[in-house]
Amino acid sequence: MDKLRETLKIVVVGHVDHGKSTLIGRLLYDTKSLPEGAIEKVKRISKEKGKPFEYAYLLDAFEEEQKQGITIDTTQLQFFTGKRDYIIIDAPGHKEFLKNMISGAANAEAALLIVDAHEGIQEQSKRHGYILSLLGIQKVYVIVNKMDLIGYSEEKFNQIKADFNQFLNNLQVYPLKYIPVSAFLGENMTVPSENMPWYQGEPVLEALDLFEKEKGLEDKPLRFPIQDVYKFDDRRIIAGRIETGKLNVGDEILISPGNKTTRVKTIEYWVKQDKTAAVRAGMSVGITVTDEFFNKRGEFISHVQDRPLTSNLFKANLFWMGRSDLVKGKKYKLKLTTQEVECEIFSIDKVIDASSLETIEAARAVKINDVAEVVIKTKQLVCFDEFKDNQNTGRFVIVDGYDVSGGGIISGAEEVSNAAGIAVTGNNSKAEKLVTRADRENRDNQKGLVVWITGPAEAVNGESAVINTLAVKLEKELFDLRKRVYYLDNAQLTNGVSSDIAITDTDEQTRRKAEIAKLFVDNGLITIITSDGQAKEDQENARLIIGRDDFLEIVVDETVAANVDKKVEEVINLIICGLDSSNL
Ligand code: GTP
Ligand code: MG
Repeated sequence: MDKLRETLKIVVVGHVDHGKSTLIGRLLYDTKSLPEGAIEKVKRISKEKGKPFEYAYLLDAFEEEQKQGITIDTTQLQFFTGKRDYIIIDAPGHKEFLKNMISGAANAEAALLIVDAHEGIQEQSKRHGYILSLLGIQKVYVIVNKMDLIGYSEEKFNQIKADFNQFLNNLQVYPLKYIPVSAFLGENMTVPSENMPWYQGEPVLEALDLFEKEKGLEDKPLRFPIQDVYKFDDRRIIAGRIETGKLNVGDEILISPGNKTTRVKTIEYWVKQDKTAAVRAGMSVGITVTDEFFNKRGEFISHVQDRPLTSNLFKANLFWMGRSDLVKGKKYKLKLTTQEVECEIFSIDKVIDASSLETIEAARAVKINDVAEVVIKTKQLVCFDEFKDNQNTGRFVIVDGYDVSGGGIISGAEEVSNAAGIAVTGNNSKAEKLVTRADRENRDNQKGLVVWITGPAEAVNGESAVINTLAVKLEKELFDLRKRVYYLDNAQLTNGVSSDIAITDTDEQTRRKAEIAKLFVDNGLITIITSDGQAKEDQENARLIIGRDDFLEIVVDETVAANVDKKVEEVINLIICGLDSSNL
C-alpha cells in the first residue's frame, strides 16, 4: 500500500470580523493553493463593485471550484505544506460552527483561535474557548490578528496574551502558542515579520507544521456502527463506517445492544483490487457474518472483549442553541453515530453561561447559548463511549422537532434503567431449563411453527380482508384437530405491547411481532401471523428472528376470497405434512 500523506484538520474560530476568513484566504494564497485566476477574479469583482479587495472573498471562489469535484462540506478548504496536507475549517457563524463541531462534521484535531488585537477579547472569543475545552481540543494557537492596527505593539500583544490565558487556563485550555500577525498584510504568516522583530516564535505556517498529530484512531477499540443492512443475492451485507479500530475476516464480533456474537465471514468489495481481509478506522465497508441475525441501523459492532458502553441513561455536557429552551420531560431526538432514538432530559445538574462562565443557580431550563451538565434518558438502549476515550462515539446531537438544537459529549454512563427510571440488572443470560422445546413438542405431538400469511394490501385491508378470514378459519380448524394454535392478531399487538410506538414504525412493529412469535414457537405453539405484503424487507427480518426452519410463508391474493375453505385445507396439509417430514 502507498504511504498515505498525513492530513491534519484545523478549525479557525473567533469573534465575528476578527479575521478568520482573511487568515485562511491568506494561507491559501501564500501556499499557492488557490485555483487559477482566483486572485485576479476577486480583484476585478472588488473593483467593479467599488469595494476594497478582501482575502475572505477568495474562499467563495475556492469553494465553487471544489464543488465541481466530489461534494465536501463547503466550509472545508485544503492546502498543503512540505510536511503534510491540511483541511482547514472556516467557522463563519457562531451557531454553524457549534453545530458542525458538536455533530462531528468539523471533527477538528487542532484549532486557531483568532483575536482582533485592536478590539481585544470579545464574547465569542470566550465562548469559542469554552467550546474548545468542552470538545477536548487541546492543540490550540491563539492568533492575535490585525497587529497593524495597534502599531505592532509588543506591550498590547502581551496584555492580550495575559488576559486571555487567565480566562482559558481556568477552562483547562492551555494555548501552545500566541502568534501576533496581520493576516491581511501577510505579516508573520509565512515568513517572520520585519515589523515585529520582538517576536521570536515561528510564523503561522511554520507553526502549523509543529502541531503534533494524535496517533491512531485505528489503535482504539473497534467501533463499527451499522449504517444499513443490504440484501444482495443471498448475502446480507452489513454496511457502515469504521469509526475506530481494525476488523479482520474471522474476527469474533459482538453486536450491541442485542448482545449477539458472531464471526466476520467476508469483507465485501466492489472491484477485485479492493479485496482485502482487514479494514480499519475511517473506511466505509460492507461485511457478511457467519450467523445471520436481524441486524439493523444503529447497532454497534465491536470485538467481544472491548465492548462499548450500553445504557439508556448517561451524563453529558451539552451546548444548547435551540430557539426554545431545553426542558425536562419534553421529547427530543438523540442522534449518536447512526443511532436515532427518542430521549428526554432526566435531570439538569448545572447550567453555565458560556461567556461569563457563571453558574446559573437552580436553573430549570437550558437557554440558547448556555452550556449544561445534564443526565439524558433514551427510550431504547444506546451504545457509546465516554468522549475522553473515543471522540467519534462519545458525541451526540439533539434534534428538537426538525432542528439540530444542541449537542454534547458524554461524560459517563449511568446504570441501565427501565422506563420508570429504575435500574435493571444486567444479567441477560438464558437460564438452563428442565423442560425443552422438544419436550413440549413431543408431548403435544406437534411442531412449533409460525404460519406467516401475507399478500397484497387489498387482501389485508377492508371489511372482507381475506387474509384475516383465512387466519381465523385456520385457527379454528387446527384447534378442532386438537392442535395447540394461536392467531396473533395485529390489533392485539398494536393496542398492547406496541402501543408505545407508531403503527407506521413497521420495522419495530414487525420486530416485536416476530420476537413474540419466536417465544410462542419455543413453546411448541403453531402461531398464525398476518401481514401486509408490502413490507417485504420487514418480513425477511422476521424470518431471520424466528428462524427459517420454523417459518412457513403463505402468500394469498383476493382470488382466495372465493374459496377460503379450500385454502385452509391446503395450508393444513402443508402443516400436517410438515409434522411428518422434516424437509418442509
Ligand atoms: P466572520 O466570518 O463574519 O465572522 O468574520 P471573519 O472573522 O471571517 O473576518 P474577515 O476575515 O471577514 O475579516 C473582517 C474584516 O477585517 C475584513 O474587512 C478584513 O479585511 C479585515 N481584516 C482581516 N485581517 C486584518 C488585518 O490583519 N488587518 C486589518 N487592518 N484588517 C484585517
Ligand atoms: Mg468569515
